[in-house]
Amino acid sequence: MAAGGLAVLGGPQLIPGGIDETGWPDIEESDIDAVAATLRSGKLSWYNNTEVKALEDEWADHVGVRHCLALNSGTAALHAAVAAVGVGPGDEVIVPALSFLASASCVLHHQAIPVFADIDPVTFTLDPAELERVVTPRTKAIIVVHLHGLPADMDAVLAFAAKHGLAVIEDAAQAHGATHRGRPVGSLGDVGAFSIMAGKNLPTAGEGGLLTTDDPGLRNRADAVKMFGEQIGPDNEREYNAHTIGFNYRIGPVLASIARSQLTRLDRYTKEVQTGAERLAARLAELPGVRPPAVPADRTHVYHHFRITLDAEAAGVDLPPGLFRQAVQNAVAAEGAPVSMWQNRPLPGQALFRTRSGYGKGCPWTCGHAQPVEYRQEEFPNTLAVIQRTVLAGSRLCMASLRDPAAVEAYADAFTKVMTHRDALITYARGLDYAEPWETASRLW
Ligand SMILES: Cc1ncc(COP(=O)(O)O)c(C=O)c1O
Repeated sequence: MAAGGLAVLGGPQLIPGGIDETGWPDIEESDIDAVAATLRSGKLSWYNNTEVKALEDEWADHVGVRHCLALNSGTAALHAAVAAVGVGPGDEVIVPALSFLASASCVLHHQAIPVFADIDPVTFTLDPAELERVVTPRTKAIIVVHLHGLPADMDAVLAFAAKHGLAVIEDAAQAHGATHRGRPVGSLGDVGAFSIMAGKNLPTAGEGGLLTTDDPGLRNRADAVKMFGEQIGPDNEREYNAHTIGFNYRIGPVLASIARSQLTRLDRYTKEVQTGAERLAARLAELPGVRPPAVPADRTHVYHHFRITLDAEAAGVDLPPGLFRQAVQNAVAAEGAPVSMWQNRPLPGQALFRTRSGYGKGCPWTCGHAQPVEYRQEEFPNTLAVIQRTVLAGSRLCMASLRDPAAVEAYADAFTKVMTHRDALITYARGLDYAEPWETASRLW
């Protein structure tokens, strides 16, 4: 193909109209019937919450734990988990530097202090070797994030936690159904937190969250956080006497019924996206300098996102790594295969942490219980390198496109076209006005 063939340089677009990404959540008649049945039941309040209870029982069963609580967001589930494991003012909680904000802000919500650990550059999850570097006598818990659907290195994390007497909270917001040594995420640590926001692998309409644990005491403490700090009896008996600071983190029955209906299809959807992801990985692996996500042999990946590493050196291209990534990203997108970034800086690089603005007046960092902590994103070189050198397949979610075999081939064809127009790509890249992602103000969803 001629150099001018790249769409980004005015050539013909490989996928006219682009890959369709509108297919998630996948709403079927049975979902609509479930909503109608719930509305007709008249059981629409928290005190006759049979749908919510049924969702809790079914998700506990799916994950293989004794208890599940349904809440109104993944963030609420994380906050309730932090509270329930006994984290309090000034305590430190270790959080990976690459994640969505809620993995760290849930710690602040309980007046505690997030301390960040760098990630492993291959799995993109918390690097257990970092734990020794960041642990202090004030550390109470570790939040592991099963980022993009791949379980973190739980053997190493659990061993470290046991040695230091730390609780382990799994942020499984992106990882419904993923397994580590055959066991589902959400059953591996002391407590798990899932998001069922509409874009997640197990979606409801709008927002929702699920907390999982084997520990009845932990479940009851989380339930109090969910219910105004009150202790609610098994038949919803209410004392109207708050024992702790709580919130209204309840979810409603209509949303629960949608999640229940979707749950009947989760395993099928997971298999479909895994098949698509494996095919895409095999095709991308043929291209020098393009590395699909790694999946260690002891884990399964559920591909909430499919993160691709673009390695200029391995591609034999003499360009700075970030510029190479940006050029490939633009060129592949121009062919009609959307690619995107996810987070443009390590969490400690966000203004909330750099300035420690918190609740105002520096709280919780200055509340008297905490020890001084500073946040510098330069301390997280692997996270910076991953943000600089990787892109996600899709501008939204893998569930939207990787379940479609034609879309999978289209992604692979677009990368193949771009990488085989090397000279044109290099010329295009040299003309770009490049800034590192964390130096730009762009909002990356
Ligand atoms: C890793 C991670 N943790 C936590 C959350 C928060 O979940 P929610 O949006 O349901 O509050 C998200 C949501 O995007 C997430 O991706």
